[in-house]
Amino acid sequence: MIILGIDTSCDDTAISLLEAGRSGFKIISNIISSQVKLHKKYGGVYPFLAKREHQKNLPQVLRKAMRGYKFSDINLIGVTVGPGLEPCLWQGINFAKDLAKRYKKPLIPVNHIEAHILANLINRSSTAIQFPAVALVVSGGHTQLILMKKIGQYKLVGETKDDAAGECFDKVARILGLGYPGGPAIAAQAAKFKIRNSKFEISLPRPMIKQKNYDFSFSGLKTAVLYKVREGKYNKRFMAAEAQQAIIDVLIYKTLKAVKDYKVKSVLLGGGVAANDELRKQFRKETKIFVPPKSLCTDNAAMVAVTCYFHRKERKKLKDIKADANLRIKNL
Ligand code: KG4
Ligand code: ZN
Repeated sequence: MIILGIDTSCDDTAISLLEAGRSGFKIISNIISSQVKLHKKYGGVYPFLAKREHQKNLPQVLRKAMRGYKFSDINLIGVTVGPGLEPCLWQGINFAKDLAKRYKKPLIPVNHIEAHILANLINRSSTAIQFPAVALVVSGGHTQLILMKKIGQYKLVGETKDDAAGECFDKVARILGLGYPGGPAIAAQAAKFKIRNSKFEISLPRPMIKQKNYDFSFSGLKTAVLYKVREGKYNKRFMAAEAQQAIIDVLIYKTLKAVKDYKVKSVLLGGGVAANDELRKQFRKETKIFVPPKSLCTDNAAMVAVTCYFHRKERKKLKDIKADANLRIKNL
């Protein structure tokens, strides 16, 4: 079965062709047109600018993704309907509806968070993951701990009360003058920090780490960085390393707590922040994890195609497929 996946939830226009067979999922093409350069100028994503770019990029990205294939080869189309930036989501949805109508293909609405989790199944035998599992989704818009009874059966056990982990990386990077997107910029600065210089050493808060729940809060961390920077006595590399470590400490601590309390058998990571080398390394020291290759942690449409496969029987009329900027993962 060949599936076409489409994602325009944020600032990347992504289309992928994926083969779903007995031996699992294989990527045929995975095209991403990034708008980073455009949004860099503004230090963040502007939804209406992003929407215009999606409109411009979609036909070209489709052409590249379809190279060597025809619509008659395709069995299903999957499109992200949320969560995400509403004007951006609609671009992908309307584009997908046109294709579904023109080529008479079923269209399946996909949840972007579930897609980040299921990116773990690409190029991997699905029997490798044992259930119950817990998934930590850490992206620019979300930080959620999700208990998985099996694929398609989820329970949200914790989430951020304010900023997402990726958002925290982005905001701290902006305060330190490191540009957008902040995650890779902070990671690069942090990697350069070698010698601890006691003059500048301060330790940033690990918000909510002591609380007996699985929730997160990252906005205080950004504020703590801001105050230190305003005082003027700081070392940029140290600050990047310390902010990154504070985020990692809380993410690992809360995930391991869920692993213990819910007696889970597998830990899955997903979302842009899961591309962070230190996070991956430090998680691996603590427990076995499933994490996609870095290119499948950040937004892509191959993960949308995989998720479409698992929902392939849930057919909806085209007119009932709508964007939902605040779409939640369905609880058990
Ligand atoms: O999943 P994603 O591509 O888009 C959303 O769904 O939000 O995640 C983007 C987020 C951004 O906040 C970006 O700074 C962060 O992921 N990110 C990273 C790294 N690469 C991307 N954060 C930390 N370390 C990285 N290497
Ligand atoms: Zn995402």
